[in-house]
Amino acid sequence: MARTYESGDWREYRMDYGHPHRELEPPDREIAIVDEALAVLKEEGILPHTDYDHDKMLAHRRAVAERFEIPWTAITPRMQRLLYAVNAIRRPANMIAAGVFCGNTFISNAGSAVGPGACYQARQLIGVEIDPEKAALAERNVRKIDPTGVARVVAEDAVETARRFDGTIDLLYLDADGTPQTGKGIYLTILQAARDRIPAGGIVLAHNSVNCADRLKHYLAFVRDPAHMRASVNVIFDGEGLEVSAK
Ligand SMILES: C[S@@+](CC[C@H](N)C(=O)[O-])C[C@H]1O[C@@H](n2cnc3c(N)ncnc32)[C@H](O)[C@@H]1O
Repeated sequence: MARTYESGDWREYRMDYGHPHRELEPPDREIAIVDEALAVLKEEGILPHTDYDHDKMLAHRRAVAERFEIPWTAITPRMQRLLYAVNAIRRPANMIAAGVFCGNTFISNAGSAVGPGACYQARQLIGVEIDPEKAALAERNVRKIDPTGVARVVAEDAVETARRFDGTIDLLYLDADGTPQTGKGIYLTILQAARDRIPAGGIVLAHNSVNCADRLKHYLAFVRDPAHMRASVNVIFDGEGLEVSAK
């Protein structure tokens, strides 16, 4: 079943990509909007419940703001909270994040298992970035939050990482922008490379379901087809959006 969650104010909710830590709304408002999205994910059977530790989420947010070097990011505070919460609730043992740039998207997912926001023990959390310099920056950033190495960044093509990964991929986060020819169309290639290792109940998150909907049309048609994914929800609470799908 495909469904949409849309907050009434998403067109007015805007961040400055160069100042990602600026508060955009009162904390209660941010929590309420993310709670509404989580409730829809629960109704669709994508998440078992909607509870996550708000203090740990804030500890994670603070650590990223203090320790990460972020040239820019399109991850809004609402999206950061949702990514943290989905991971904190689903608790993937193994997670792959494709196209992580400086690592902010990756740690928004991994931060529920490593660093001051950790609420469970993961096995392997892998951020993949094809550009070696960006990958090095992301790895430096992640090391400042996770000294254990459970979360790490590799410099390679996420299609290859997904194809070769040995184990279940319990959560796959897609954000790679591919080549000028493929653009975000690469999401479907990465998903197809990973799909046989995604277990029943596994979650796939796709950033930019709103502002790149056209480039993602084949991907979105695929995940919204119940023959491929059990459920899929387009979460629209900022200008980027997140398609949340469950196998
Ligand atoms: C636009 S950035 C994502 C930024 C993120 N949404 C944020 O707001 O922080 C996409 C990244 O995907 C990387 N990328 C493109 N193709 C890739 C591939 N095949 N495998 C891994 N990374 C890839 C690019 O180098 C780029 O850093």
